[in-house]
Amino acid sequence: MRIDVLTLFPTMFAPMNESMMWKARDKGLLDLRVIDLRTFTHDKHRTADDIPYGGGGGMIMKPDVLVAAIEASLQSAPAGTPVIYLSPQGRVFSHRIAQQLAAREHLVLLCGHYEGIDERVLQLAVTDEISIGDYVLTGGELPAMVLMDAVVRLLPGVLGAEGATALESHADGVLEGPHYTRPAVFRGLAVPEVLQSGNHAAVAAWRRVQGLRRTWRHRPDLLLRAALSEDERYLLAQFANEDAARWLAARQGEG
Ligand SMILES: C[S@@+](CC[C@H](N)C(=O)[O-])C[C@H]1O[C@@H](n2cnc3c(N)ncnc32)[C@H](O)[C@@H]1O
Repeated sequence: MRIDVLTLFPTMFAPMNESMMWKARDKGLLDLRVIDLRTFTHDKHRTADDIPYGGGGGMIMKPDVLVAAIEASLQSAPAGTPVIYLSPQGRVFSHRIAQQLAAREHLVLLCGHYEGIDERVLQLAVTDEISIGDYVLTGGELPAMVLMDAVVRLLPGVLGAEGATALESHADGVLEGPHYTRPAVFRGLAVPEVLQSGNHAAVAAWRRVQGLRRTWRHRPDLLLRAALSEDERYLLAQFANEDAARWLAARQGEG
């Protein structure tokens, strides 16, 4: 996969030379090009932003510079390559979007800064706007890195164990259950016996139940969209009954 990141701050992408990102690049699975938007400026000060029409604070990134940079990236890209503007006004990023983007050959990511970008860039050259959450950051560089990390780890061959991502949180709308490593007992807390049993079917069933319980507790909203079996729905009803019983007991305790 090729990813072009268009930014005013290329050095911010140093973390892309570490860990899994570096491995993906080293294995030839990711061709990451961090492109300095100032390359596309025409004056001696390499101006990429200007004051806003209509007044108000903050600077706006210039449309001529941004569109020229996007067009240069698209020159050798397949038709329909997504041009994504990282923006707090975009659709909120998710595992599902990461999966869809991981299937593409080429992505162009545009990082805004200051007050944002000229609206005409959105009209002329951007195909998608993605937000990493309902808060405002200083620039699109961290969001671009978040998006790339989530996408690149889904590329076949990037993570050691093939299929490892299939069981992860959000892969099927259910969070992952708890993990343990040695020692078997730490400060009086033992690793659940089933995990030491060597019975793979029992371990898989236990993990699923724990994942469901965790999702029920932490993110019940996810369960509305999760693909669950009849048995799993029954289990959720059990969790609900347990919680209701606990709530009632607590109220009786108060009274
Ligand atoms: C200070 S923000 C501009 C916010 C803009 N004035 C607004 O109110 O929508 C500067 C840049 O940071 C990036 N950014 C900020 N928050 C973001 C978020 N939650 N997700 C993705 N990008 C974000 C965008 O690229 C944006 O152009």
